[in-house]
Amino acid sequence: MEKIMKIGIIVGSIRDGARRSESIAKWVLSATDGRTDAQFELIDLKAFDVPLLTSPVVPAAAGRQYESENVRRWSAAIDACDGYVFVTPEYNHSVPGAFKNAVDSLGSEWAGKPVGFVSFGADGGIRAVEHWRQIVANFHMVDVRAQVAFSMFFDVEGSTQEFAPLERRQGEIQGLLDQLVASVKLHAQSPA
Ligand SMILES: Cc1cc2nc3c(=O)[nH]c(=O)nc-3n(C[C@H](O)[C@H](O)[C@H](O)COP(=O)(O)O)c2cc1C
Repeated sequence: MEKIMKIGIIVGSIRDGARRSESIAKWVLSATDGRTDAQFELIDLKAFDVPLLTSPVVPAAAGRQYESENVRRWSAAIDACDGYVFVTPEYNHSVPGAFKNAVDSLGSEWAGKPVGFVSFGADGGIRAVEHWRQIVANFHMVDVRAQVAFSMFFDVEGSTQEFAPLERRQGEIQGLLDQLVASVKLHAQSPA
């Protein structure tokens, strides 16, 4: 029987309190209801408490042998997925430091796997995503073209500022997931 692929939806913020990335990642997960082409799972970076990378061994050369128990748990969660949705905020026109550190802390777990980006910010977080595209290339990851860029002004409810996605985002996220699933299938045929 064919194994069903697993897509990890990563919450890329570890701030205390109500994180926008968490509500967005939950919305992405709910958008997968009814899809039978993959198994989708929320991976909350905050739950792993990944330490700042201080290891003298470069993670790509560590052969998945990490000193930190937290990094080993993070490694296992990432390794178990065939592809990812990075839910990323934009911090000072780039990627969030804690998320970048967590990505840097692993090696072959990411290698060659497809990734799609969902972002948030004043300009949709698009600068963070452009930076992510350069970063993931170093792992030979395959970044899908479709992205969902939520606006800090238009995808919120006016008085409460609660996350309230525009109607067209449903179509956009399904397009992203379609490309991601297709990319995982291609990757399975020709692994990196
Ligand atoms: C350190 C920091 C830097 C930020 N820089 C930007 C930025 O450059 N562009 C932007 O659109 N929003 C910026 N923001 C606002 C974030 O988009 C907003 O706080 C968002 O809720 C962060 O996502 P989170 O709640 O999941 O952490 C910044 C927020 C923080 C905490």
